[in-house]
Formats: sequence, C-alpha cells, structure tokens
Amino acid sequence: MAYRVPFIDPRRHYATLKPEIDRAITECLANGDLVNRHQLKDFEQHLAEFVGVKYAVGVNSGYHALLFALLGAGVEPGHEVVTVAHTFVATVSAIVHCGASPVLIDVGPDFNMDVDRIERAITPRTKALIPVHLNGRVCEMDRLLALADKYGLAVIEDAAQALGATFDGKRAGSQGRAGCFSFYPFKVLGGFGDGGAITTNDAALARMATLLRYNGEDRATGDYHYHGQTALLDNVQAAVLDVKLRHLPDWIAHRRRIAAAYHRGLAGITRLRIPRFDEARREDIFQNYVIRTGVRDQLRAYLKEQGIETLVHWPKPMWEHPGLGLATPDLPETRSICREVLSLPMSAELTWEEVKATVDCIRDFFATHI
Ligand SMILES: Cc1ncc(COP(=O)(O)O)c(C=O)c1O
Repeated sequence: MAYRVPFIDPRRHYATLKPEIDRAITECLANGDLVNRHQLKDFEQHLAEFVGVKYAVGVNSGYHALLFALLGAGVEPGHEVVTVAHTFVATVSAIVHCGASPVLIDVGPDFNMDVDRIERAITPRTKALIPVHLNGRVCEMDRLLALADKYGLAVIEDAAQALGATFDGKRAGSQGRAGCFSFYPFKVLGGFGDGGAITTNDAALARMATLLRYNGEDRATGDYHYHGQTALLDNVQAAVLDVKLRHLPDWIAHRRRIAAAYHRGLAGITRLRIPRFDEARREDIFQNYVIRTGVRDQLRAYLKEQGIETLVHWPKPMWEHPGLGLATPDLPETRSICREVLSLPMSAELTWEEVKATVDCIRDFFATHI
C-alpha cells in the first residue's frame, strides 16, 4: 500500500544526498577500496570524535557490536547480564550468544531501564549491565554508573537508537565501558544495509573487537588470537556512513523540531500520552516518536485508512516468543507498553505538511471516533 505519509522514505533520503553518496561509492569501486581501507579508518575516527571517545570499531551490525563488547568486557558462560525486555531482541541474543544469562528488568514510563530495579536484580554472578537508550533517549546514566561502580559491573550501552543523544552533556556511547551502535538503514545514521560500531575508551576492548570482527586474526602478524567472526564493517558502507555523519547534526535538529511540533499538536488529548520533551539534563534525538494509548490498535487502523504509516515497537513481550527460551519475568510496565505504544512517522526528510496531516488525523480520531 502506498502511504500518503510513509513512516520513512529511503528514496527521498537518497535523492537529497545522491551526488555525495554516488561519489563516495564510485571512489571506493574505482580504487578497489573494498575491505578495511582508509574509508573505514576515517569513518571510525570521525565517529569516535563525534561520540567523544578514543576508539570506534566498525562491525557489520549493532548485534555484533553488542556481542563483541560483552566478550571484550569478559562476559562468559555462567555470568548474568541485567538488561530490559523492552528492547530489540538483538540486545538479549548477544547475551545468550556469550553463553551468559539475560536477567530482564522493567522499564519506567520513559521506556528506559528503571534504575530503581537494578539493585534487586544483581547476584554474585552478575557481570554487566546493558542500559538501552531507547527511541533516542539516554538512560539515567549517573545513577546507573554509580550502581555499576558499587558492584564492580561493566556497563555496555546499547546506543543503537541514540547516536548523538546526550545526558548531562555526554553523548550516548561515551560513558559506559563500551557503546554499541547500529547503522541499519532506518536508524538516525543508516547505511545501505546492516552495519554497526563499538565506541570505547578501553584500548584492550577496542583491540579485542578489532580482532574478533576479522576472524580473530591480527592482519599485521597473521596470528589468530581468538575464534572470531566474519563481521567487519564493509569499506564501501563506511565511506557512505562517513558522508552521512557530516549531516547528522542537521538531521537531529530536524527530528527535534518535528518532535516539538508533535508535542504542541498532540498536547491535551486526555487518552494519549506523549513523550517528554526538552528536559534540562537530556537532549533526545527521537529515533522514534512514540505515543501511548489504550486504544492503540483502533488508532493505528484509523491512521492506516487515512494513509498514514505507523509502527509498533514491539507488540508482544519478548518472553512470549517460545523460540527464545526466556523465563517469564514479572514486568507489568513492559507488558502494558506492548499493548499501548505507537511510533509516528519520523525521519530527516519528513515535511511539515506530513507532520500536520498526522497530527490532524490523530486529533480527529480522538474527537470523533471513540
Ligand atoms: C535497541 C537496539 N539494539 C540493538 C539493535 C541491533 O542492531 P542491528 O539491527 O544493527 O543488529 C537494534 C537495531 O535494530 C536496536 O534498535
């Protein structure tokens, strides 16, 4: 179905950058720069500078960033890692693939880890915490880091949705032992396929991730240090991401203006909860603009009829997927979020007409359809 307001429009995105992207790709192809060349190193350096850390290591997905960061932090079979259930499944799968056990705790009303619940989840086997900066909003990092210090835990930030977001002026991915990013095409910084990166100030962790992504091999010596994986960020992909990274501050500013427009347009609807905006300690980047209502499914169906595309992240609690083999935790907030959340159209290319059409339809729905 062709939507009058698509959730995101990759063709429009490409059209706005075509000359720069085509030039970057053509240069790689013409020079044979296909694997681990200067484009990858340049991108890593620029990303590290942007996030505010010493090292960035490009890998081929956000999942691999999480996996290698956990391995680099020493997570092994027998360990437990505390994280949230309200996240993309890759956060939890990375823990499981280290041989460790995920311990899932509830989130607060802002969809991020409820820091008050962390201490109760810690046991002698706990090795790490993974706060997930969901929807482009950083978790309450000061209290979380203090707890991690108290119990000697590694903090691996799942910043897949939060490149550029800040808490107390510090960017997502700069405060924990490592930050993990995804460049999946529809992220704020999206490639043309899968991609990811680890950011860190820890030289040993950066080196381990650099080896793990290349089958454990140190290409300078030919020595194999680990059983690694084939998981390097493609050089052509890095060249494109490097071009896009220069535009990221403008895109973030546009997303924040859209969020402000949604905020004004949707204020005062009794049965609708809208995200917080412009708090003193945070700058959210609105990877997703997520509203919440008990009549979510009816609202979504109405918006679809009106040609407005929305998404639900995520409709079913993770532990209810039998294939994941997770124990059933008692997480009431996560459970109700799954029934109530709806992500509205949001991208660097979204127009004011599209924002207005979306706001008008939502207002119309609550005024006349329920
Ligand atoms: C919160 C979160 N964590 C992890 C990931 C995994 O990233 P990728 O899809 O690049 O493996 C994603 C991406 O979808 C995500 O949104």
